[in-house]
Amino acid sequence: MLPSVRALKPYPMAQLQARKAALAKAGTRIFDFGTGDPVEPTPPFILEALKNAVPAISQYPSVAGTPELRRAAAGYLARRFAAPLDPATQILPAAGSKEAIFHLPLAFLDPTSGKDTVVFGTPGYPVYESGTLFAGGLAHPVVLTRDKGFRLELETLPAEVLARTAIAWLNYPHNPTGACVDRSYLATQLAVARQHGILLASDECYQDLWFGDSPKPPSALEVAGPDASGLLVFHSCSKRSGMTGYRSGFIAGDKTLIAAYRSWRVHFGVGSPAMIEAAGAAAWADDQHAHDRRTIFAAKYQVLAAGMTRLGLSILPSQAGLYLWAQAPEDADAYAARCLDRGIVISPGGFFGAGGAGWFRLALVPTVAECHEALAAWPTC
Ligand SMILES: Cc1ncc(COP(=O)(O)O)c(C=O)c1O
Repeated sequence: MLPSVRALKPYPMAQLQARKAALAKAGTRIFDFGTGDPVEPTPPFILEALKNAVPAISQYPSVAGTPELRRAAAGYLARRFAAPLDPATQILPAAGSKEAIFHLPLAFLDPTSGKDTVVFGTPGYPVYESGTLFAGGLAHPVVLTRDKGFRLELETLPAEVLARTAIAWLNYPHNPTGACVDRSYLATQLAVARQHGILLASDECYQDLWFGDSPKPPSALEVAGPDASGLLVFHSCSKRSGMTGYRSGFIAGDKTLIAAYRSWRVHFGVGSPAMIEAAGAAAWADDQHAHDRRTIFAAKYQVLAAGMTRLGLSILPSQAGLYLWAQAPEDADAYAARCLDRGIVISPGGFFGAGGAGWFRLALVPTVAECHEALAAWPTC
């Protein structure tokens, strides 16, 4: 094993599942705000699309994906972000965005080249780091802070770091904080990336989960021009369409990068089954169900935000995403353990890297009624 991989901590969500299972076995009623895995049913029209596409003869899927899925993804990008991408050359399906994120450095980072570094924010989604380490690259986590709105600002990094950086990750609406950004921020990041020959990777899996009348979170594609040079964005059916178990998403952007990634991915064997791609195509072609789902998440956010404030906890106000980020009133691990005693599963901020210390995350998963029940059981500060 690569020494850097051996040193990786266990995947945080796996730890959480183990603790939760032990409690449930002991008969404790569980309110699981841990993993961001929503419980709202997958819309019936998506199930139908899946069932109708089960083939009589099963053959290997192609890494390029079905033209229908690529066309549906392009249609979504055009409607939602006014980004006119070519489905043949600028879109590539993924077996969920996680694997595409994880594999990116394997394809686009040469550890011997002097451009061996991947930049990402902490707190953040742990896969940016693990993908980097498995590819033999150098991880460069940048601590994100409340006073900077949890924004990763590439322009503030030392010149020698920018010179060594192969890939930089952005993720807004942000997991775990719910921080959002505007187009001008994205334009600045893309300009810095292009200036330094950095592949800008924008993880956009929460783009359709804005709360109420809040501004719609923009895509980096909106500031990239039609060729999207130097940019790849990552989208997912998981949270937008209630399809975490389907493993379906796509990568879009620069056609040269897409062509290279397509030829690499043939080796990984990551083509999705045809019926999953048919379900994905149905999901991307429809916006109403995404609207219905974000209305539910927004209602949960409001209940929890008001509840946390009543309990005297300081929250980071958010306009989109699947999470509520709040300051722990004591050491975050100790606080999570105290919540767990009452059956309330939360994620201490350290799960998302060193920059998460002192905070905790609630995933908007339990129903609104369960959120009220959990708040009644919540430990006081
Ligand atoms: C920021 C971020 N990116 C990517 C993913 C992966 O999503 P999926 O593989 O289900 O598309 C997640 C999942 O929680 C996430 O939080």
